[in-house]
Amino acid sequence: MKTVLTAHELQAGVDRLAAKLNARWGDRPVLMVGVLGGAFIFLADLVRRLDMPIEIGFVRASSYRGQTTRPGELTTSLEGLPAVRGRHVVLVDDIFDSGLTLDRVSADLWRDGPASLETVVLLLKQGRAQVAMRPDHVVFEIPDAFVVGYGLDYDGLFRNLPELAALEPHELPQPDRRGE
Ligand code: IMP
Ligand code: MG
Repeated sequence: MKTVLTAHELQAGVDRLAAKLNARWGDRPVLMVGVLGGAFIFLADLVRRLDMPIEIGFVRASSYRGQTTRPGELTTSLEGLPAVRGRHVVLVDDIFDSGLTLDRVSADLWRDGPASLETVVLLLKQGRAQVAMRPDHVVFEIPDAFVVGYGLDYDGLFRNLPELAALEPHELPQPDRRGE
């Protein structure tokens, strides 16, 4: 595994984003919505630096399945989320890769009538987008590699690494050749 961002660099990035959001929102109440599972550590660090009155909720999105780094079928669930109608919502995810997840969850949330909706990601993988939307706030742009740590997993593992690391090619699964 190769370090992409150290724990220190990650914390400095979260500091910068929090300062931006504090300036943007002032005293206005915001509903912060994290995308599970990847965003939980980023969201936990971010909200402890925010000064406005905030509520926190979670949505669930899953696309990666088993030992593969490629997206499978995307499923989302807003079950258990506090009421969104009329609220200023900030949607928080770990990484914008194809963008399909953020695009879908944003559309789901807009359907519930928020006063506004902004999107925040810790990471944006360069040259991968398959959708027209882009996050409103990006903390770090990274090259196209499969990364783990600071909440991001590979087959359920490595979310607890304090730094962000790229898996080396030999650590990645063999391409799925079914159907060939
Ligand atoms: P997207 O829908 O392709 O933008 O992918 C977004 C979701 O896929 C993220 O919320 C992550 O959970 C997961 N993901 C994408 N790239 C990576 C990666 O490099 N490492 C770990 N998870 C990833
Ligand atoms: Mg995710």
